[in-house]
Amino acid sequence: MSDYNEMNIFGEKCGELLKAILDSINDAICVVDENCITRYWNKAAEKLYQIEHDNIINKHIKEFFPNSLLPKIIKERKAYDNIYNSPKEGCYNVISASPLYMNGRLVGGISLDRDVTEFIKTSELLVKAQSNLNVLEHEISIINKNRYSFSQIFGNNKVFRDSIRLARDISKSNINVLITSESGTGKELFARAIHLESGREGYFVPINCSAIPNELIESELFGYSAGAFTGALKSGKIGKIELAHNGTLFLDEIGEMPLGMQPKILRVLENGEMTRIGSEKTIKASIRVIAATNKDLSKMVDEGSFRKDLYYRLNSVVINLPPLRERKDDIPLLVNRFVEDYCMEYGINILGIAPEVMDIFINHNWEGNIRELKNVIERIVVLTKNNNTDVIDSSFLPKNLIGNKKINPYPKQENIFDLNNILNNAEREAIINVMRSTRNNKSHAAKLLNIPRSTLYFKLKKHNLEK
Ligand SMILES: Nc1ncnc2c1ncn2[C@@H]1O[C@H](COP(=O)(O)OP(=O)(O)OP(=O)(O)O)[C@@H](O)[C@H]1O
Ligand SMILES: [Mg+2]
Repeated sequence: MSDYNEMNIFGEKCGELLKAILDSINDAICVVDENCITRYWNKAAEKLYQIEHDNIINKHIKEFFPNSLLPKIIKERKAYDNIYNSPKEGCYNVISASPLYMNGRLVGGISLDRDVTEFIKTSELLVKAQSNLNVLEHEISIINKNRYSFSQIFGNNKVFRDSIRLARDISKSNINVLITSESGTGKELFARAIHLESGREGYFVPINCSAIPNELIESELFGYSAGAFTGALKSGKIGKIELAHNGTLFLDEIGEMPLGMQPKILRVLENGEMTRIGSEKTIKASIRVIAATNKDLSKMVDEGSFRKDLYYRLNSVVINLPPLRERKDDIPLLVNRFVEDYCMEYGINILGIAPEVMDIFINHNWEGNIRELKNVIERIVVLTKNNNTDVIDSSFLPKNLIGNKKINPYPKQENIFDLNNILNNAEREAIINVMRSTRNNKSHAAKLLNIPRSTLYFKLKKHNLEK
């Protein structure tokens, strides 16, 4: 201890222990006397400034650092903290300096310089990466806007337009939505368009309940905390619900959601918060759910394979999309749009469509709906690419389409612009739709259609819709 008491760092006899301590510090330390003559210079300072101890000792600090803070703090008798400084290009320090007093008398000043070059370089890289990310996110959002807006959902069929209108009308609210329809009719397209139109700041996060094994679905949805179970990631994992905060969670194929998971989802919807597996901490989860299914959920509720409470929570708004065979009047429009799109994508002149091909398209049953139609058209466009043809004729059609022509249960329409046909189809579609939404309750359906019950019976028979 006596070394400390006798020590006078400005004298010849500098305590060896103190010297060793100061040399082991990573910050550059410089001590000057009241005349700004350098009296102490540690190892870190030698390394940082590439100036040897013996060269700088007993020299005026300004000889080496014209802008040094030390003369200033001695003159002003004031300390400075964390001053950012770049003594030479590509080299960055943070400096703190303060006056030194002994027995109340000013005897000099001390400065501590921390080398933050690596830190600054890393943060510059981070800023650069962040700005690149912002540019990419912006570009992706433009692409998504172009691809997923309502303007990209094609169709003029009356029932279909009503579905679009309903989807648009509710998009800005926070109401949960259930989209029901056959496979390939545009459920995901609608869900994305609703999210985009909603203006919600968060992400659109899809999860396909049928594609994830039951044991994994909880961790996919809720995520888990660090070390929650063996095999879990060390850092923990964010779940889809958390990811969809302030955005939209798209629960695709909701009919496949395991029964055990359903009350957990319901709780999130009711409380607006969740916890990761293995964690106690509640996390805010302000999500809007859009669920989709090609199953009859109300029937599943009756059978006990879907929870009633969750069903009622999800079905505030039900959007039912008609299958393509019930909106045949849209087929020419869809065919022309897809032919155009694929010709552009594959870089060929836009092809015409032979009338007999359009006829086959209109009369095909389209079990796979618009997805099937799109795939058929892509295939045709690819086939015609090296064929030097301007028109798609029936030789390019897949066999199943030509085969179907004869066994098609739907009457062939001679002329799709025939007003009688159009009115007839519209009537048929309106009846199908009302019967579906009233779950085949005929007196309710007749009331909604504003026709006598007897007329409804007659029309059901006429359109071959009796069950
Ligand atoms: N009205 C439409 N206009 C343009 N493209 C459409 C339309 N409806 C569907 N599509 C296209 O058809 C394909 C199938 O649509 P989507 O994936 O939304 O159907 P889905 O109902 O979710 O099917 P699944 O039940 O099999 O998941 C997509 O490529 C989509 O872009
Ligand atoms: Mg889908």
